[in-house]
Amino acid sequence: MPLLPLRVAVLGAGMIGRRHIGTILQRPDLAELVGVVDPVQPADAFPDVHAPFFPDVQSMFGQCRPEAVVIAAPNNLHRPQALQCCERGVHFLVEKPVTSTWDDAVAMVQAVRRSGVHTLVGHHRRYLAPVQAARKRIADGAIGDIVAASVVWATKKPDAYFDSAWRKSAGGGPLLINAIHEVDMLRHLCGEVVLVKGVKSHARRHFEVEDTAAALLVFESGCVATLVCTDAGLSPWTMEQGSQENDLFGFTHESSYRLIGSRGSLELPVLRQWNARVAGEEAWDRPLVGSYLGGDRWDAYEAQLAHFQRVIRLGDAPMVSVEDGARTLAATLAIAQASDQEAGIRPPGV
Ligand SMILES: NC(=O)c1ccc[n+]([C@@H]2O[C@H](COP(=O)([O-])OP(=O)(O)OC[C@H]3O[C@@H](n4cnc5c(N)ncnc54)[C@H](O)[C@@H]3O)[C@@H](O)[C@H]2O)c1
Repeated sequence: MPLLPLRVAVLGAGMIGRRHIGTILQRPDLAELVGVVDPVQPADAFPDVHAPFFPDVQSMFGQCRPEAVVIAAPNNLHRPQALQCCERGVHFLVEKPVTSTWDDAVAMVQAVRRSGVHTLVGHHRRYLAPVQAARKRIADGAIGDIVAASVVWATKKPDAYFDSAWRKSAGGGPLLINAIHEVDMLRHLCGEVVLVKGVKSHARRHFEVEDTAAALLVFESGCVATLVCTDAGLSPWTMEQGSQENDLFGFTHESSYRLIGSRGSLELPVLRQWNARVAGEEAWDRPLVGSYLGGDRWDAYEAQLAHFQRVIRLGDAPMVSVEDGARTLAATLAIAQASDQEAGIRPPGV
């Protein structure tokens, strides 16, 4: 039996809110859009949307009865909007980062537990087809135990992107907006993070927040990973460019993840697997073969919405709970905190 579509309101009709609205309109079998909240965006900028627009969350709740909302407003608003949902028993999908501070995340987790609402955090990349295929390969032992990983997220954001002031002040910045996806993906693929070291730089854009950062992550298994993130440098290496998940980004067919295992390696999202040509001969003096794995592709946002419907209608365990989102947040905030400690060694001059 098909499940009933969810009655959903979207809070924030900016860059990602539009994507959620588009997904809902595209998939009436999954959800019906019953309202949009945005204090700035005019309804007539959305000719395909027939649901009412509201300037604030209170008036939306007063006039329409969503059973769920998508929180796609700036990071610092995630906590208050989630708490409003909890007070009213409204389920929510909150965009990443789950909140912009650890204290806010704890408050959100406590409110969710008290209220019993269903929640999901918008780490949509966990639904990407190549990510799910990679998880299966890893679980099947195709590359052995993951020993190390190397990840790059590097692109140059246009100046107009920073017209939204929240993106360049505390609570914004590429660590919390972008690299948090990579931290979440590394947790998803390599396990729990137990130690973080980090550096960040403001040298290109001179904003309050970093424009460039690098991190070393150590996982419970002993695996170590490096992560480089910048929104001020041009490169073909982002998950978006490699996976074609976002039309805004061109498609480069380049992998930005290298997962290195005891028996082989995987490049992601252009799924390419490397193993010894002869099984059992895993050593640097023996030949390797690399093969492209291919496979189906689907829209990660539609898959996320379908999952949200099942979480609410059937009680499925969420792919990313608020607790899980909070752990990803904690590891990401730790990169910035470690950077502030300045514990590095300055090489002597000559
Ligand atoms: N999953 C992803 O890949 C992804 C991508 C981009 C952004 N995000 C996240 O989505 C959120 C929004 O990012 P964005 O890039 O769309 O930002 P944006 O600035 O483009 O849009 C935010 C919108 O929220 C509106 N807004 C401001 N105050 C509001 C309020 N009180 N109630 C409702 N709406 C309000 C703004 O007017 C604006 O239209 C952020 O948390 C961001 O980290 C996630």
